Amino acid sequence: MRRPSVLVVDFGGQYAHLIARALRGLGVFAALASASWGVEGVEAEARGLDVRGVVLSGGPASVWEASHDDIAEWALGLGVPVLGICYGHQLLAKILGGRVDRAPRGEFGPTVVEVLEEDVILRGLPRRLRVWMSHNDAVLEAPPGARVLAVSPGSPVAAFEYRREGLPPVHGVQWHPEVAHSEGGLSLLRNWAEQTGLLGTWRPGDVIGELVEYVRSRVGDGRAVAAVSGGVDSTVAAVIAKKALGDRLTPIFIDHGLHPEGEVERALGLLRASGLDPLVVDASDEFLEALRGVSDPEEKRRIVGRVYAEVLHREARRLGAGYLVQGTIYPDVIESGARPGADVIKTHHNVGGLPRDLGLVVVEPLRWLYKDEVRVIAGRLGLPQGLLEKQPVPGPGLAVRIEGEVTREKLAIARRADAIVREVIESRGLHRGLWQYFAVLTASRATGVKGDRRSYGYVVAVRVVESREAMTANPARLPWEVLEEIAARITGEIPAVTRVVYDITPKPPATIEWE
Ligand code: XMP
Repeated sequence: MRRPSVLVVDFGGQYAHLIARALRGLGVFAALASASWGVEGVEAEARGLDVRGVVLSGGPASVWEASHDDIAEWALGLGVPVLGICYGHQLLAKILGGRVDRAPRGEFGPTVVEVLEEDVILRGLPRRLRVWMSHNDAVLEAPPGARVLAVSPGSPVAAFEYRREGLPPVHGVQWHPEVAHSEGGLSLLRNWAEQTGLLGTWRPGDVIGELVEYVRSRVGDGRAVAAVSGGVDSTVAAVIAKKALGDRLTPIFIDHGLHPEGEVERALGLLRASGLDPLVVDASDEFLEALRGVSDPEEKRRIVGRVYAEVLHREARRLGAGYLVQGTIYPDVIESGARPGADVIKTHHNVGGLPRDLGLVVVEPLRWLYKDEVRVIAGRLGLPQGLLEKQPVPGPGLAVRIEGEVTREKLAIARRADAIVREVIESRGLHRGLWQYFAVLTASRATGVKGDRRSYGYVVAVRVVESREAMTANPARLPWEVLEEIAARITGEIPAVTRVVYDITPKPPATIEWE
């Protein structure tokens, strides 16, 4: 089925996902196409959809340096509503005969725009809008025949409307309605999207049948394995595949021996409560052997990915399966540079570094969905609440929470320290507001005195963060007594640790994990 959609053309920068997600929140299915695919790639992606509107996103380039005139012309030729944002606004203005050049002054951050005409997209918005801008160039003169809808100190044409005989109008806005700090941003997008007739038509909870059908059509009467970790994405993908394939699907849980304490039992419990009975493969010796002597974080990730793939492949062969079901979601597909609508999708796996050529046909039922949509589907499928509340554990597990080489001794220490952090936080009910809470075994050593003896032991870092989606994060302001209890228990219960430090760095500049 070609889904009625808005196509958001991504010109780089971080905005396109925000636009698509805002539209989906309004019940409008929005798909991304990267300008880097060229006009042919964008067109090919659009052919798999029923495009009812196009948004040309912002991006870092100037319309004079990296011109994508062909993409803008193609969008205008579709005869559907077109909205340009920031770079997209300038590109449309240029194509339609307006003048784009260096702005009288660049505008970065909060900017006040004055609304001159409350036309279609600005309907119901205040006359003075505090919005978020980021641009050096500006539309200095609107295209002939266009109406200027808003102005700002650095943008003589901050918004315009260009009417076309017998066709929906073209709109451009210099600011970013998709970012949370733009006043009236969502109303602007809703006003624009209303013209597409799609408001409220996209309901992720309703597409389960379609996803099941997709898996069925891809796998035919073949056999498949599903790599499951106990995380929400891989569990939902496997439950959908199970509905499609029944006994022809084998979910596989690979124990790489790098899980935090209790994680395997937690994951298996959730998987069983989700109606999956995974084949558990204990490959911990193989992983540890491959990681021996390796201390570079990315190399560790690659090795875990490679061994994971090898084990999966071996099991799939043994089971006679030719297909691999994965819980890859939309941002992963787009960020890996693949066209989601293409038949062959590049392999991407959250274990990281999974080799492309697995010798298995990859089936990714969630490849069009965002995380919050997968959660809606999990709820609709009646999957356990614990699945949604579980804190994320990186695919390579403790391999990236032990700085430097992973050894059995360090694994035992990291596991114990991590379990203490978890116990203290969960026993006080503090975990609900937290994104992740864990211990890192650092590569530092420090002197301590235990009893009357001085010792030179390990330093454990405690990382506890609040976040919405891991793009940014803040260290949690835990009560002092909680931190003291964690430090006292870790140094008291683990002889090899002499010191505990608390990481108070937000992301950015730090990442959540230490490696
Ligand atoms: P960072 O450390 O980049 O992490 O701020 C953001 C989120 O991603 C998780 N993470 C990983 N997940 N494989 C994964 O599956 C990995 O290699 C990996 N590295 C980081 C991290 O736990 C956080 O939730």
